[in-house]
Amino acid sequence: MKIAILPGDGIGTEIVEQAVRVLNVLDLHFETETALVGGAAYEAHGHPLPESTLKLAQAADAVLFGAVGDWKYDKLERALRPEQAILGLRKHLGLFANLRPALCYPQLTHASSLKPELVAGLDILIIRELTGDIYFGQPRGRRTAVDGHFPGAEEAFDTMRYSRPEIERIAHVAFQAARRRSRKVTSVDKANVLETFQFWKDVVTEVHAQYPDVELQHMYVDNAAMQLVKAPKAFDVVVTGNMFGDILSDEAAMLTGSIGMLPSASLDRHNKGLYEPSHGSAPDIAGKGVANPLATILSAAMMLRYSLQQAAAADRIESAVQAVLSAGLRTGDIWSEGTTRVGTREMGDAVVAAITGKTITTRT
Ligand code: IPM
Ligand code: MG
Repeated sequence: MKIAILPGDGIGTEIVEQAVRVLNVLDLHFETETALVGGAAYEAHGHPLPESTLKLAQAADAVLFGAVGDWKYDKLERALRPEQAILGLRKHLGLFANLRPALCYPQLTHASSLKPELVAGLDILIIRELTGDIYFGQPRGRRTAVDGHFPGAEEAFDTMRYSRPEIERIAHVAFQAARRRSRKVTSVDKANVLETFQFWKDVVTEVHAQYPDVELQHMYVDNAAMQLVKAPKAFDVVVTGNMFGDILSDEAAMLTGSIGMLPSASLDRHNKGLYEPSHGSAPDIAGKGVANPLATILSAAMMLRYSLQQAAAADRIESAVQAVLSAGLRTGDIWSEGTTRVGTREMGDAVVAAITGKTITTRT
């Protein structure tokens, strides 16, 4: 097994370091190779996704990714910005299925901004289509308007589009995931306004005919945004397009207390995948040793489960994370009165200790 390690920018390097430490104490046989990506790769090679990094990711069995981006690159032309690295990896590796579980750990019920009773026991899975939609649709650009409200004015445009096979394959991923859970899928669209999402709704409905044992519900995206904060536990699997999924997955993350807890998997059609925390590079806290490494550590667990067929090792990581939370250890983003505030490295130490059977000491 070969794992490509792409730490990226900002807190990416700190959190990935802890996840790699955790992987290394599991006594599994794998090889790792690390490469630059994002702003770090731009500085060193003049491109956020150098050919060598892409080749490494393509050759590996799985990719563990940190985060990319920094405000200092906002003025660069789009093709050279750090975000292009993750978009390029998704596109070139064909990672069309993005799984973002939002799980509210019992120990963190009070870290949510919602009332504890609304989020206690929350366990939803957002499945975001990741290689289509307005993110990748062509044409896009700037031009002089020939029609519209202001002919002759400068304008910008993007293209929202989905093909039937793109919708079919993500719908299958959602229905199959639902079979392993509570057998309920909510497909989120904007069919009342957008042609693309009327088509989405039609195709999802057709695919559903093959899954009579799974309940399918359709919901407009604005309503879904509202229901997610009103009654989040009513959802099980949520399937949606690239842009709506980007937005709703951040919202769902906050229900659980902190986006610093949420892992993600981006899979191709053979279940080869890229694993990354759902959060970004957080340049404001980079280098301070305070970032929460748990989302990345849990992403490593997803990697073992989905791409490397090591479910038992994944369970060990997930139980260890539960153990450190039960022991009262918290990074700043999930800290509350009566718990022990720790830094990135101490949190990594604690997970390693929990896996190797050592005791975790707390100072509560
Ligand atoms: C995400 C991020 C990315 C996205 C950015 C960094 C390009 O927000 O993974 O959700 O929009 O997909
Ligand atoms: Mg996002």
